Amino acid sequence: MIEQLDALDREATMAIAAADDETTLRDLEVHYMGKKGAITAVLKGMRDVSKEDRPKIGARVNVLRRSVQGAIDGRRDALEVARIEALCRDPHFDATLPGAGPRVGALHPLTEITNHIEDVFRAMGFYLLDYPEAETEFLNFEALNVPGDHPARDMQDTFWLEGGHLLRTQTSPGQVRAMRTFGAPLRCIVPGKVFRYERIDASHEHTFHQVEGLMVDREISVANLIYSMRTLLEAIFEREVTIRLRPGYFPFVEPGFELDIQCQVCAGSGCSVCKQSGWLELLPCGLVHPDVLRHGGIDPDEWSGWAFGLGLSRLVMMKYQIEDIRHIMGGDLRFISQFRRG
Ligand code: FA5
Repeated sequence: MIEQLDALDREATMAIAAADDETTLRDLEVHYMGKKGAITAVLKGMRDVSKEDRPKIGARVNVLRRSVQGAIDGRRDALEVARIEALCRDPHFDATLPGAGPRVGALHPLTEITNHIEDVFRAMGFYLLDYPEAETEFLNFEALNVPGDHPARDMQDTFWLEGGHLLRTQTSPGQVRAMRTFGAPLRCIVPGKVFRYERIDASHEHTFHQVEGLMVDREISVANLIYSMRTLLEAIFEREVTIRLRPGYFPFVEPGFELDIQCQVCAGSGCSVCKQSGWLELLPCGLVHPDVLRHGGIDPDEWSGWAFGLGLSRLVMMKYQIEDIRHIMGGDLRFISQFRRG
């Protein structure tokens, strides 16, 4: 058996050394090392070898495998060197031409901005939470002060599932889920995908992204809220941005605000993205309604909180000056590849 293995070793080494192109070498690799190759067959035959001989022969087979694989790798390197040397001798070869660089991938702008927001809030001690896109009607609406006959339901129709479930229309149900899990005090953000029955246009999608933010503690005020929103926007835009705060109605906050950002696509002069107004609704927010705290199992006489629901897709549009929201989830590589770094 040992002699047979020595012979196989010699035969393989000579054949590999004589291989003068990659195809021949690859055939030899399959012939010796492949699933049905000569060395694999030897390995399979080990079960017929007597117990006493097995360690000696096993060790020899291992040496054989390493030696044949080493010869193949060495020959492959030598062939590659020879190929490059031949190229260099070609009088038409121009070593100064730029090479074909590797195709570098990149994060989607939505992912990049989400990561950035997560970093900003984690640095301020916020939990990062992830909740289901298929939500209960109760948590998406009722727990947020939107009963079945509330007019706000019309603005957020969605895809309905079986068993009282729906595709969430907002990340706000994450507020109640987080309160029920962690209690007070609490700081968290909930980024995620949301779904709405929507008339699609340059700034409205049926599937888009939001980030919910929630802070519950003692004596939380609107001043805390505004400070946190400013910190967030300045971190994202890496400069001061013009914002305005106006009253906004959301049944789950009291008082509620709309925080608008000056349109970064037209610098406030009016375009299709901002519907010629110069402003874009980006960050509705407010102080958490006592009923919502109660649904979350938190006593509103002891605790208060702020919450916001950032329109992430719109933020991406503003940050990268994208003129139509449909590009973001459109999956067109010509669009996505513009965000490649470096
Ligand atoms: C909400 O969804 C509330 N849950 C936000 C909130 C949370 C308020 C916490 C108060 C406290 P609204 O429907 O306005 O609110 O949506 C929030 C943001 O999502 C909007 O400002 C906008 O930036 C974005 N948005 C809304 N609809 C669309 C859409 N169809 N396509 C893209 N972005 C949208």
